[in-house]
Amino acid sequence: MTVTADELFRRASSGLPCWMGNPDGTREPLPIARWMGGDASSMEDRAADRTMIGQCTGPTLDLGCGPGRLTEGLARRGISALGVDTSREAVDLTVGRGGRAVLRDLFEPLPRAGEWSCVLLADGNIGIGGDPVRLLRRAADLIRPDGAVIAEVDAPGAARFQKRTVRWETDTMVGDWFAWASVSTAAIADLARTAGLTVVDIAPMHGRYFARMCPAPVGG
Ligand SMILES: C[S@@+](CC[C@H](N)C(=O)[O-])C[C@H]1O[C@@H](n2cnc3c(N)ncnc32)[C@H](O)[C@@H]1O
Repeated sequence: MTVTADELFRRASSGLPCWMGNPDGTREPLPIARWMGGDASSMEDRAADRTMIGQCTGPTLDLGCGPGRLTEGLARRGISALGVDTSREAVDLTVGRGGRAVLRDLFEPLPRAGEWSCVLLADGNIGIGGDPVRLLRRAADLIRPDGAVIAEVDAPGAARFQKRTVRWETDTMVGDWFAWASVSTAAIADLARTAGLTVVDIAPMHGRYFARMCPAPVGG
């Protein structure tokens, strides 16, 4: 059996560990407890979530919402939020905790495109698809002209920008390889500019960094 995102989130719900595997045989533990949120996550993770949520002032799209802790957290604060994920298990978990979510590839048509106040790319989701410029262009198309894209990026000391091939792994199983990317605080401004966005600020919280980007002025 291969590890799909569905299997990953089923294991996450049971508190079982999973990893992101690299072609050289190394692997990094996935922050499953952080993704699950609530009591499973640490005080630092919850503070970082509040930082992200605090930047969302209106209807928000949570791209690659996973089990939906941010979609739920936004809704609890009275902010209309929609999670988007290609994993059925992730969407079911999001809906099960009271959030709204659609089972959809984020590059496919989405409701209210161009009208969202905020688009979230949390937990390294700026790596989805392995092409951050394409992803940021897509996010930029989804927000309104005065909207913002909030993306979590790697710490200043990390590699600036890396395209990667990775797979999900458990203690006994591995998944298919897929394209991913890592982007640090040092690289986000250039990538954002290429995608037609401007980095307005980067908020640090307990060693994590959240870049807020707005549409670049026309001709700017
Ligand atoms: C880093 S993980 C999850 C992080 C998530 N914010 C959380 O709290 O669990 C990336 C998520 O993006 C989803 N995903 C990957 N590619 C996607 C795509 N093209 N469209 C929508 N969701 C995608 C995966 O299913 C997974 O749930």
